Amino acid sequence: MSEPPAKPAPAKVFIKTFGCQMNEYDSSKMVDVLKAARGYEQTADIDDADLVLLNTCSVREKASEKVFSDLGRLKAWKAAKPGRLVGVGGCVASQEGEAIAKRAMAVDLVFGPQTLHRLPELIDQTRATQRPAIDVRFPEIEKFDRLPEPRAEGVTAFVSIMEGCSKYCTFCIVPYTRGEEISRPLDDVLAEVDALLAQGVREITLLGQNVNAYAGRMADGSICDLALLLHILARFEGLGRLRYTTSHPAHFNEGLIDAFAAIPKLDNQLHLPVQSGSDRILAMMKRGYTQADYLAKIARLRHYRPQISLSTDIIVGFPSETDEDFEQTMALIEAARFDAAYSFIYSPRPGTPAANLRDGVPAEVKQARLERVQARIREFGDQYADGLIGSVQSVLVTGPSRKGNGQLTGKTPCNRSINFAGAERLAGQFVDVRVTSRLTNSLQGEVLTLDPVL
Ligand code: SAH
Ligand code: F3S
Repeated sequence: MSEPPAKPAPAKVFIKTFGCQMNEYDSSKMVDVLKAARGYEQTADIDDADLVLLNTCSVREKASEKVFSDLGRLKAWKAAKPGRLVGVGGCVASQEGEAIAKRAMAVDLVFGPQTLHRLPELIDQTRATQRPAIDVRFPEIEKFDRLPEPRAEGVTAFVSIMEGCSKYCTFCIVPYTRGEEISRPLDDVLAEVDALLAQGVREITLLGQNVNAYAGRMADGSICDLALLLHILARFEGLGRLRYTTSHPAHFNEGLIDAFAAIPKLDNQLHLPVQSGSDRILAMMKRGYTQADYLAKIARLRHYRPQISLSTDIIVGFPSETDEDFEQTMALIEAARFDAAYSFIYSPRPGTPAANLRDGVPAEVKQARLERVQARIREFGDQYADGLIGSVQSVLVTGPSRKGNGQLTGKTPCNRSINFAGAERLAGQFVDVRVTSRLTNSLQGEVLTLDPVL
């Protein structure tokens, strides 16, 4: 009898992800789809790969230029082995569509955030036609219906509950690249959470570009908002901790503030992008709130959660931003005491309304403003962390510390990394850890053990 033919080695995919958590989530779904449909495995070694995917971002800077220079380099990679394929997904793909394949010879697949589930078909198509396969449409919620069962890696997981954004802030490209808001039906979200919990997940982060605009259809036809979803999920046994990102201040309503009061499982942390403290600039951005509105919401939240960690996004140097406007941003930072932030220099995005405004703020001024924002928020962040020293935090142990010093690592309810000595079997559990000191980007702690009284 002859030997059975050797099983061909599985094809391998290498993914480079740019940008936000939604992109990270989408990249993990690309792996799931390719694995389920074609047996692909992910590799961290590009030379080992048969397929390279760039999951791109166009929110800031000349991101599309970076993608094109990566694509230039991929030409040699592709030529080195027959059958290799290159795909571009994400927001640059969505924005540029066919132009990418026209400009970069190496590209075989172009797909948007809403069509990543069609990757296997696009691969077949390009192999059959020997031409680039392109699909950057927004086919409603089809994507979620067509994704394979979620696969948990570790004890924390993301669940995307809505896609896109309909706020059209004047500086932002997201509504054009990811499409208008569309929410997943409640039952789909619950089924995904159930599947993840069954695989040992203990912490879920609900994801959406504008997550607190969630409006999921329920079985009886009525609509579930984010606050109701949180109340429903809070009752899931096995789910130890719940978080969501990213919120829009205009949708951060009483119901969500009440949820922080009523649901202990809800993380002691909120990311609430404010962008600017100047009412004039906020209006030009079409954000739909004033500095006073924002601070009033924070004050109510802190009434229930005095120690909550509050982080934000800030843009400096929006067109026409004066010193006075900028001082309003600094005043807001003082009042809100953000302990972390992503802050950016405004970058005009082609196709957005603000891109047509006269800039007028010199580059050095923008840079100096950015540095002031970052320095002040770093001080608040350090003060916040110092305030945790001596306190006992419930920490979900995610595994060994990356420092490789035999310690364990996990996150506090306020989403700070903490390292501590402990037995590896604690991974995946919640343990009480006393914070002993603050390091530059993390906390150091010690596990509290119960006295063996009995
Ligand atoms: N709701 C989204 C926001 C997407 S963009 C989210 O969940 O992340 C993320 C941040 O990038 C925004 O909050 C804003 O601070 C910043 N940003 C967006 N467009 C920008 C631009 N044109 N220039 C500079 N920063 C920008
Ligand atoms: Fe962008 Fe504003 Fe939506 S920042 S993602 S348009 S809420």
